[in-house]
Amino acid sequence: VGIRGKCLDGQSILECGRRLNVDIVSICGGMGTCGKCRVRVVSGRVNEHSPEEDSGMSVQDLDQNYRLACRTRPIDDVRIYIPPESLTAPQRTQVEGLELEFEPDPPFRILDVQLRPPTLGNPEADEMNLIASLDEQHGVSMRKIDLGVLQMLSPAIRDSAWKVRVALRDNEIVAVGSTESRWLGLAVDIGTTKIAAYLVDVASGRTLASKGLMNPQISYGEDVVSRITAASKSPESAANFQTMLVDALNAAVDSLCGKTGARRDHIAEAVIVGNTAMHHLFLKLPVKQLGMAPYVPALRSAIDIKARDLGLLIAPGGYIHLLPNIAGYVGADHVAMLLGTDVTSSNGIVLAIDIGTNTEICLINRGRLSSVSCASGPAFEGAHIKNGMRAAPGAIEHVILKGQRLEIQTIGGISPIGICGSGLLDVVAQMRLNDALDASGKIQAHPLVRNIQGMNEFVVSVLPDRDDISVTQKDIRELQMAKAAIRLGIVALLEAEDLCEEDIGEVVIAGAFGTFIDIESAVTIGMLPPLPLERFKQVGNAAGTGARMALVSHRRRIEARQIAERNHYIELGSIPGFNRKFAGASVMSDKPLVCR
Ligand code: FES
Repeated sequence: VGIRGKCLDGQSILECGRRLNVDIVSICGGMGTCGKCRVRVVSGRVNEHSPEEDSGMSVQDLDQNYRLACRTRPIDDVRIYIPPESLTAPQRTQVEGLELEFEPDPPFRILDVQLRPPTLGNPEADEMNLIASLDEQHGVSMRKIDLGVLQMLSPAIRDSAWKVRVALRDNEIVAVGSTESRWLGLAVDIGTTKIAAYLVDVASGRTLASKGLMNPQISYGEDVVSRITAASKSPESAANFQTMLVDALNAAVDSLCGKTGARRDHIAEAVIVGNTAMHHLFLKLPVKQLGMAPYVPALRSAIDIKARDLGLLIAPGGYIHLLPNIAGYVGADHVAMLLGTDVTSSNGIVLAIDIGTNTEICLINRGRLSSVSCASGPAFEGAHIKNGMRAAPGAIEHVILKGQRLEIQTIGGISPIGICGSGLLDVVAQMRLNDALDASGKIQAHPLVRNIQGMNEFVVSVLPDRDDISVTQKDIRELQMAKAAIRLGIVALLEAEDLCEEDIGEVVIAGAFGTFIDIESAVTIGMLPPLPLERFKQVGNAAGTGARMALVSHRRRIEARQIAERNHYIELGSIPGFNRKFAGASVMSDKPLVCR
């Protein structure tokens, strides 16, 4: 299906695509370095090749008129073909997580109140009437009513025959409706790539519906640093980033309400978590300092804000509660993950890992908490990988090598169009197990290894009507860097606590990517320490679970604050012997690194 539209003067195909709602993958944010915005110019005139295209694209690609969308500008009418792997396909988003198993103690109370109809003899104002009735019937001395609530109070009272249901938060009335009203809550986990949103019945703690969606900022770069750079360009860019998020959340609320028959003005409270950059962008806080050493957040504490101040359309007086951050690169989503998995109450030794473009790891050592953040990069999202793609239909997600034959599984069971992070991890582990790769990460001779233009690559899929899919030596180096960053994080945490890898009683792995990886593969290549498989637990979107807990429980909010306060942050770049330890963590083997 084609889309036709106008490009503005000087606009690149990437920018023009955005204008026309065609989102082209742009992992580097349009800097010309990731090579993922490949498109083919079918007809029409465009500008000359850029140096990035000449050096980064194959001769074959250039011969076939493939260009980088971010480096190509139309000169007159053009027709552009966008291959599937260059489109930001709707991605499988992981919204499931652990179910809530505790008694809710919501941050607001729900009370039914019978008001007295005023008379000419007693023409009491509606607001006074409500306050007095609340006092008489529930012993609540309330003095504050949100302006948005006041603006709809009089018709609401009369429409419901003088009996209303109110939501009270601390000493403020934040919502009023009929006695049929069911006050709800919204919990959101804003990831760099994906957003998970949940509509929750606050009184019971039950999740009524959930929705996964892409973070719309993704077309400005897939990793946090490109996002920070783009948002720091001007106040307008920062405002634009915030609007994009809020628009996406409002659309998600619409969809959740549509699924459940709920009303958006019945959502009396929202809890939002995200990494520190997403948290700041959502709050319109400056992010520039997050991108520069010593990576300081503008805000660390939990905060409550009126939803309307940020443009989130819920109940007129509704609040948004944001959980606290720990550091510039360990955000409220990490706190929510720790809350959601309940690992911090353990008396044993537990490692909790949320794997992503940025991986946060927390070591719980008999009640003591310490965390690191590892720049694991976007390789797990398929970026910087020759045939890499995100976990969308057609992505190879699991691989087993049987003799000389590869068995592959794709998302959606369709013909493969690329390989996603979990597939890449499997391929590399299978190569290692079958001597096609040595411990240093160098490709070895194997029937499935071929050499193209001086570079070894391992062939994963050859189909008559499609491009071959292979994993190159360069791809393996990308994955090696990512896995080394994670393993180094684990090493740093253990060494700081004087512990050995075998002391770890449990490894909890959260996040969408972590949910789909094969643990054996991750251990084989040395991304995770060699421990018995039963010590690993994959828990899905635990940050979403933590956000839902904080939504329905005042106690859990206090617990979240304590988790952030108790957490000792270790800056990975400052550990002694960093280079030597990083080299050790890069080894592609399942040998222990700390002790034994
Ligand atoms: Fe064009 Fe990265 S190379 S967006």
